Amino acid sequence: MATAAQDASTDGAALTFPEGFLWGSATASYQIEGAAAEDGRTPSIWDTYSRTPGKVRNGDTGDIATDHYHRWREDVAMMADLGIGAYRFSLAWPRVQPTGRGPAVQKGLDFYRRLVDELLEKGIKPVATLYHWDLPQELEDAGGWPERATAERFAEYAAIAADALGDRVATWTTLNEPWCSAFLGYGSGVHAPGRTNPVDALRAAHHLNLGHGLAVQALRSRIPADAQVSVTLNIHHVRPLTDAEEDVDSARRIDALANRVYTGPMLQGAYPEDLFKDTAGLTDWSFVQDGDLTEIHQPLDFLGVNYYTPTLVSRADGSGTHNSDGHGRSSHSPWPAADEVAFHQPPGETTAMGWAVDATGMYDLLRRLGSDFPGLPLVITENGAAFDDYVDPNGDVKDPARIAYVRDHLAAVHRAIQDGTDVRGYFLWSLLDNFEWGYGYSKRFGAVYVDYPTGKRIPKASARWYSEVARTGVLPG
Ligand code: NOJ
Repeated sequence: MATAAQDASTDGAALTFPEGFLWGSATASYQIEGAAAEDGRTPSIWDTYSRTPGKVRNGDTGDIATDHYHRWREDVAMMADLGIGAYRFSLAWPRVQPTGRGPAVQKGLDFYRRLVDELLEKGIKPVATLYHWDLPQELEDAGGWPERATAERFAEYAAIAADALGDRVATWTTLNEPWCSAFLGYGSGVHAPGRTNPVDALRAAHHLNLGHGLAVQALRSRIPADAQVSVTLNIHHVRPLTDAEEDVDSARRIDALANRVYTGPMLQGAYPEDLFKDTAGLTDWSFVQDGDLTEIHQPLDFLGVNYYTPTLVSRADGSGTHNSDGHGRSSHSPWPAADEVAFHQPPGETTAMGWAVDATGMYDLLRRLGSDFPGLPLVITENGAAFDDYVDPNGDVKDPARIAYVRDHLAAVHRAIQDGTDVRGYFLWSLLDNFEWGYGYSKRFGAVYVDYPTGKRIPKASARWYSEVARTGVLPG
């Protein structure tokens, strides 16, 4: 199979990206900050979950993480040295509003103010995500995302963030990958809070949608009219194993549960009918109240897309297909009412996560989104790869496989742009190695290596390579 990279650069020519294309790197609060009990921060669901024996590999927690809470100035300087144009980070809700209710904690807000000011000072565009999975534990104790009240609390928190940072942050994202929050958090339980109830997962999905819509409105009424508001979805690029009708139907089913459960309400103002039909045995969706879809369906300035690997499915026939969907192992499925769908390992090489490397998925996904949602610009808010990086005797970290991965995926982005898709930017996941959720520190996604015992940062070869691409806007041939 020809890869997108081969298609895009058969003549070995360098690929020039459009003027103004945003070159960024991304992180998230719980994965990098540490300082879990400092300056008034209270536990989030990830603190609780990671302290529960057996949940996170090696018993790792985000207590210290990369110590970014103390090293933020060094990290911003490093980004500036690398010539990175934009930085996507998230605010820790329990640092800003510890109980998830009521007034904000000034010290928490000050941390993000200082961070943003330093970014602006260095000419790096801040892109702030409100929710990258660290729900205040008190809100989970009150029922969490399956409860409607959590969506209302989220809008209040969005208002606090906008009041505090709206004069300096011009690009906002409400939620990061709400699919993971709902279906891994409440369905398979491989993410915090670790609950395993398919109906709760669907209820959570709806209340995340509602929280998004209410937060967009809270932001818009407080930030300047030219500020941008978005959401980031991990749209699964779902492919059927064969053209057989039952495999195509399995792909449709997973597309509804993974993608259209969010894009339907957020971008089109309705849940897909087939989703209601597929899940009718579980719920009548009566938790969707009159008027909710109007609240959820708010204009967005761009759609953030996280892409890593395609998803390959068929109708289960019990003949040795294995049921790994790349989202971690659990005896509970993250896919409500989809027991008859089998997940397959896509062909080809894999990253340290076991995820197939396939840049054609990036191209196909962008093309599909471009045609499904005309007029909505796209930004790749995450793409990258984990590999088993190590510091060699010379003190260097050589990661040619990561460079190849990013190069091929950027070539696919370039080809999608050439073919008419409106893609405005690319954020490499991640700036630096960090806490990879259920995998703890065992998986390294960074362009910069973190020596955890000392906190020392060592730019990998990929960081220097990406730096050149970001500075020039040209992907070498
Ligand atoms: C998705 C998430 O947003 C991010 O937190 C995670 O580390 C990466 N993908 C890699 O799994």
